[in-house]
Amino acid sequence: MFVLVNLKTYPCDPIEVAEAVRDVDERTDARLGVAPQAAHLERVAETGVETWAQHVDPIEHGSNTGHTLAESVADAGAAGTLINHSEQRLKLADIDGSVRAADRAGLETVVCANNPAQIGAAAALGPDAVAVEPPELIGTGTPVSQADPDVVEDAVDAAASVDSDVSVLCGAGISTGDDVVAAADLGAEGVLLASGVAKADDPTAALEDLVEPL
Ligand code: G3P
Repeated sequence: MFVLVNLKTYPCDPIEVAEAVRDVDERTDARLGVAPQAAHLERVAETGVETWAQHVDPIEHGSNTGHTLAESVADAGAAGTLINHSEQRLKLADIDGSVRAADRAGLETVVCANNPAQIGAAAALGPDAVAVEPPELIGTGTPVSQADPDVVEDAVDAAASVDSDVSVLCGAGISTGDDVVAAADLGAEGVLLASGVAKADDPTAALEDLVEPL
């Protein structure tokens, strides 16, 4: 299972969380990564943790003030990037452009989507993975894998019917090892989570609980 921790713009210490993710990753068979804010990518990557960007724009080098260039993210040490997160929605053409930009820069891609229909559309753009996250469950602590298991199973089916090489993650409200196991049982190959770790008093303990059953 891939456990990807999105730090959003939470006021946590990105280095403290990155080091916790790195250390727990070394003690488990699960694959762990962290997605800090763009300005923290380089310092986070220097810890040795698998580092992900939260977003890249569908652009190339040139006149694009204020945008995030995939090559800069890769230069900063990122291995991959989220695209079209629920809090950074893009038009379909721009999702496609961001996937192409990430591919060009050698970044792994996870395209997020709200529901199975969107997952099918996202999978058709050829990312490495898609992540289904019902927006109404994000940040609630109510796990999608328990509150809405059908959405996870349907997302797995939707992605497989388009491209069997695209893996499926699920997210929203995931915070315990039981939630991760439930996600795996529904066919997800990973989870995308944020508040359960980024807002935890003890990120290491929260991560250990997440991977304990794996
Ligand atoms: O990117 C992960 C996210 O949107 C889910 O957030 O706080 O429900 O784990 P959370």
